[in-house]
Amino acid sequence: MSTATAIENKSPASAGRFEPRIAAFVCNWCTYTGADLAGTSRVQMMPNVRMVRLPCTGRIDTAFIIKAFERGADGVIVSGCHPGDCHYSEGNYHARRRFAMFKELMNFMGIDERRVTFSWVSASEGRKWGDVVDETIERVRALGPFDDYKTLLEETP
Ligand code: FES
Repeated sequence: MSTATAIENKSPASAGRFEPRIAAFVCNWCTYTGADLAGTSRVQMMPNVRMVRLPCTGRIDTAFIIKAFERGADGVIVSGCHPGDCHYSEGNYHARRRFAMFKELMNFMGIDERRVTFSWVSASEGRKWGDVVDETIERVRALGPFDDYKTLLEETP
């Protein structure tokens, strides 16, 4: 999925139940492979996630997250290699610092930080990826649709 493409909710909507749209930015080497393992292992998880594969979490700009919200996401997952396992040595440490600051910014702007999940999922953790997806969807479902971005845009001169 490209961030330039609007995130469409193609998940089967249960009668009247809000189905969150989740964008996941993942590193190629660990989480993407773990998600692939979840698929080949037939791990059951909810289908609401659209993945964007990047070389490393260190490459994930916070602007990508903002763009995902702008394009209709209700929640975002950022996930990569465990500390010490980054294929580019320190990319995930940079990402961890960046997203800690980003959450502060979200709080400052009044956006609930629970809409963004930051996790470590290795290539062998297909089950964990399924858990991260399901937990994120349930948490965002409880928060409701993300309409704040539209409000922010309307308030901007
Ligand atoms: S290569 Fe996976 S987080 Fe850097």
